[in-house]
Amino acid sequence: MSLTDHRVLVIGGSSGMGLATARAAAQAGAAVTITSTAAGHLDVALAALPDGCAGEVLDLRDEDALAHLFDHVGELHHLVITAGDAVRPSPLAGTPLHELRPLLDVRFWGAVAAVQHALPHLAAGASITLTSGTIAERPAPGSGVMAAGAAAIEGLTRGLAVELAPVRVNAVRPGVVRTPMWDAVPEQQRTAVFEALASRTLVGAVGTAEQIAAAHVYLMENDFVTGTVLTLDGGALLA
Ligand SMILES: NC(=O)c1ccc[n+]([C@@H]2O[C@H](COP(=O)([O-])OP(=O)(O)OC[C@H]3O[C@@H](n4cnc5c(N)ncnc54)[C@H](OP(=O)(O)O)[C@@H]3O)[C@@H](O)[C@H]2O)c1
Repeated sequence: MSLTDHRVLVIGGSSGMGLATARAAAQAGAAVTITSTAAGHLDVALAALPDGCAGEVLDLRDEDALAHLFDHVGELHHLVITAGDAVRPSPLAGTPLHELRPLLDVRFWGAVAAVQHALPHLAAGASITLTSGTIAERPAPGSGVMAAGAAAIEGLTRGLAVELAPVRVNAVRPGVVRTPMWDAVPEQQRTAVFEALASRTLVGAVGTAEQIAAAHVYLMENDFVTGTVLTLDGGALLA
């Protein structure tokens, strides 16, 4: 299967893994639409993508905007969701429930809402790819709710693969990947953090957005794969 003339929507395609996925899908012949919460980010991202890609402003927490987006984008062959908002450590002891609940608004409930709104617009042979993270398997202190969210995405992937078949539903489970998500960490500190995290993998490196994009293209193209959570972590979970 090729992506030629397939319509691909990458929610979170303005940055990092999503932007690399949008580029790889466009290079594989797809007609690609990306989203961002900010028009300015869209302009920058579209300038970095091949001609012909389109952009839409979307906040995954806004259900009306989601409905509008899918009406506007029309029939879709592949939906990829890489969107994730900024997070900070949120230990259960000391973080009130009203601050913990929103931690799952974008990554989990946003993904659920996006898939629900996408359904009437999916073409025959469509695929959906969600994003979890190795945090689901190896949480750090203060990340219990985020870990639960990533694990929930993996359960959702398997559940929807069964519920929505023959639509294929998969997830990518990234380990540490060098993307703008890490820009909140000051540069010098970031380099040290990446070195330390790389030493905790089997391949001795953190990942790149392009490596994740290649997995996304594989999951879009291979129509025998569904209900799978594909780990790309340089072997970190085994190290
Ligand atoms: N990088 C890692 O090491 C790593 C590891 C494991 C899992 N992950 C997960 O992988 C996913 C992609 O990460 P990344 O590193 O590519 O991050 P990134 O470069 O920060 O990109 C995040 C994307 O999410 C979008 N976004 C943020 N808030 C949103 C909202 N409320 N509604 C819709 N879109 C929203 C951003 O759009 P704008 O900012 O343009 O609005 C951007 O396109 C995230 O879910 C992240 O948690 C990342």
